Amino acid sequence: MEKELIKFMLNGEPVEVYNDPASSLLHLLREKFSLTGTKEGCGEGECGACTVLLDDLAVNSCLIPAGKVNGRSVETIEALSKDGGVDPIQEAFVEKGAVQCGFCTPGMVMSARALLKQNPDPDPEEIKMAISGNLCRCTGYKQIEAAILLAAGKINSK
Ligand code: FES
Ligand code: FES
Repeated sequence: MEKELIKFMLNGEPVEVYNDPASSLLHLLREKFSLTGTKEGCGEGECGACTVLLDDLAVNSCLIPAGKVNGRSVETIEALSKDGGVDPIQEAFVEKGAVQCGFCTPGMVMSARALLKQNPDPDPEEIKMAISGNLCRCTGYKQIEAAILLAAGKINSK
């Protein structure tokens, strides 16, 4: 496939890159921008390990063709520590012991970020729904749900 110029906002900065528009956003982020915080699990939209924000909505980047982000805004897990600080969501995950196998954590954090951008005061059911596309086969979801609730409290008390 011929390469195309793709221009978009990446973690708040304008970027442009020549890339196959049909290859996945996940591969574009990891290979062209070295943003390896976004993980590849199943590669087919089932696990959520590759979750990023596209125009503030959580998406599976393995399913998004790179060409589809033209003119849009993409945010990856690296955006959370861009200024060297720790984001309240990351802080809450550490405090609640919600960083489990580590491979799934960036995706879980990004789903939490999308939720809290749209709904700063979610109830436990809304939190469950928001991470329902992020699979964990090691420990379960209790600590993750508690961390997202704590993160909401931290963000709202700022
Ligand atoms: S790698 Fe994208 S959903 Fe699993
Ligand atoms: S957090 Fe990755 S399998 Fe449980």
